[in-house]
Amino acid sequence: MFDDKDMILEAKHVTRRFPAAGGRSLLACNDVNLKMYKGKTLGLVGESGCGKSTFMRFLVSLDKPSEGEILYRGKDITKLKGEELRQNRQNIQMVFQDPSGSFNPKMKIRDIICEPLLNFNRIKPSEKDKVAKEFLKMVDLPEDFADRYPHNMSGGQRQRVAIARAIALEPEIIVMDEATCALDVSVQKTIIELIVGLQKKKNITIGFIAHDLGLIQSFAHQIAVMYLGNIVEVLPGDEIDKNAKHPYTQALMGAIFDLNMDFSKKIESIESEAPSPLDVPPGCPFQDRCAYCTERCRREHPKLIDLEPGHQVACHKYDRK
Ligand SMILES: Nc1ncnc2c1ncn2[C@@H]1O[C@H](COP(=O)(O)OP(=O)(O)O)[C@@H](O)[C@H]1O
Ligand SMILES: [Mg+2]
Repeated sequence: MFDDKDMILEAKHVTRRFPAAGGRSLLACNDVNLKMYKGKTLGLVGESGCGKSTFMRFLVSLDKPSEGEILYRGKDITKLKGEELRQNRQNIQMVFQDPSGSFNPKMKIRDIICEPLLNFNRIKPSEKDKVAKEFLKMVDLPEDFADRYPHNMSGGQRQRVAIARAIALEPEIIVMDEATCALDVSVQKTIIELIVGLQKKKNITIGFIAHDLGLIQSFAHQIAVMYLGNIVEVLPGDEIDKNAKHPYTQALMGAIFDLNMDFSKKIESIESEAPSPLDVPPGCPFQDRCAYCTERCRREHPKLIDLEPGHQVACHKYDRK
């Protein structure tokens, strides 16, 4: 399923350091290598603060990596400037957790949906009403919502508008950053169904950030697990419950560890706070919470290695060297 000929985006050695107090450095992304495929969903999971948003923001040029490149259809989008950068925004769109933040409260839904289309001269102002209604229909909202303001809608309805606006430019990739996590579980489910339906219809590639592995498992074709800025495992979405290899992925899955696991070193509940990305120690980022930690793990940073096609893990346990 993950053939390089269907790959449309590739992150190579993407690293982001933020300057922190006292001349220290915060490593938000560390040598991230990921591939995205045409019409498929890449789910990016991990605890809060592990670097998920930092990474996805590069895709929509909201930030630039300190090192590395992001190739979209072969071109490094981290180097784009001016008009080229502006044009590229049509290809990759983003939906945020709280769409209210990105909506102008004084604008009607019609204008919110059509704004990007007008910016890129894709429609004439006289076509706004017709176009807005088309897109409202696509996200299963009544046509008369075109006349509403964002505050006259529920959170789920606003998120549908955000999706309508994101698909309006017919982007090849949509990035969704915790786009459903503020919604009730039942609303979340209908939004995911909508996204999956639109993806099939329009062959959209989706980058979906979530801290909830259970949610992402239900529809992501590919899942990347992130820990302290590092990708620790990448695997097909439908294999995560039976074939997750990294101790952190297994912990996220709530999997039962091997019988010979030392429970005195059992990782804390994944609800607990993630360690600080400041002055990350050498070796494996997961060492202090891992039941299988060895002396090698304290010393040597594990590389992401191929286990099978589409499945990679960064853990010395699986590195037969
Ligand atoms: N602009 C910034 N300046 C300094 N630190 C940042 C900035 N953006 C993110 N960080 C830090 O980078 C780390 C990763 O953050 P983020 O990507 O938002 O995590 P996630 O989306 O996985 O919750 C966190 O420690 C966060 O505090
Ligand atoms: Mg985030």
